[in-house]
Amino acid sequence: MRGATRARPGRVAVVWITALSPAIAQAQFAPRPLSRFDRQKAEWLLRRRLPCLGCHRLDGAGGVIGPDLSDVADRRTPAFIYRMVSEPQAALPGSSMPKIAMPDEWRALVVSYLAERKGRGAAAVDPPSVAAPGRLDAVSDGAALYQRVCAACHGSEGRGDGPNAANLTTRPTAHADSAYLSTRPDDTLFDGIFAGGYILNRSHLMPGWGETLSRNQLWGLVRYLRALCRCTGPAWSRDGAGGAGGAGGAAGADEGAEDAVAEGDVRRARSSR
Ligand code: HEC
Ligand code: HEC
Repeated sequence: MRGATRARPGRVAVVWITALSPAIAQAQFAPRPLSRFDRQKAEWLLRRRLPCLGCHRLDGAGGVIGPDLSDVADRRTPAFIYRMVSEPQAALPGSSMPKIAMPDEWRALVVSYLAERKGRGAAAVDPPSVAAPGRLDAVSDGAALYQRVCAACHGSEGRGDGPNAANLTTRPTAHADSAYLSTRPDDTLFDGIFAGGYILNRSHLMPGWGETLSRNQLWGLVRYLRALCRCTGPAWSRDGAGGAGGAGGAAGADEGAEDAVAEGDVRRARSSR
């Protein structure tokens, strides 16, 4: 896996290695100095564009699934913050933090921004690379996966009332609402879980899981949403589509006219896996 654990070379060696290997350069991330404009952009990305504050707080607003990011630089080194944002499942296997797709430049900016908010004096210590509940990729059951990574927002019975929901500016969808879920084709649900809210013109607080979970796991989640709502998608969307019942899913993708723009992105992302 990219950026996996490696010994830390000393400072001089870093210069060489950075030039030679982007993978190791990632593990040795050094924050860059930020202008006022950079800081504004980083705050915009964190507050309006990326799903980070669905799970984390920053200056008093946001979710509580993960630690408060306001003072993360007091606890963690810049290299660890970078690694956590780049490859959370490698940095902390089993974490409920998904890898969020974004341009490298945004990642470097956001991490530099978080890393420079230091000042309370504690020495940064990176946590050991272990996670109690086991790796996410080993969870093949849709129900178990939902309880582990979705229920904090969507509620354990899919009523949109998880313990973290009150911290969000948009209410998580109630997956148990059969009237609403009946209007959503399986492919649209898949795409929402894969890519997250923002690129489907919905709340940016809904994270995308396509960089973290396998296709089978994502379809397992779609099937579980159907169990929660005790419903199926609209009839037109079920004709001949792979949908939640099979391994496929591409067959019906062209029909979701409302999501036409984003689907191009999702399909590109799918085919790159
Ligand atoms: C679905 C929830 C979720 C989302 C979305 C999410 N994280 Fe996390 N994040 C977590 C959890 C949970 C942890 C704590 C690690 C653990 O125990 O799993 C964490 C840990 C971290 C850490 C390490 C903090 C520490 O004190 O050790 C950083 C830094 C971080 N996340 C940054 C981000 C950024 C930046 C984004 C957006 C690009 C983001 N996270 C999106 C859940 C999330
Ligand atoms: C940090 C909170 C959070 C987590 C964790 C989260 N969601 Fe969401 N989700 C939301 C919010 C908020 C929305 C509402 C988006 C909107 O309506 O603008 C949403 C919307 C959705 C939708 C869109 C439904 C539709 O209208 O088509 C689906 C599907 C979904 N979530 C599935 C999941 C699944 C499956 C998981 C776990 C893998 C998950 N979510 C994890 C917050 C979250």
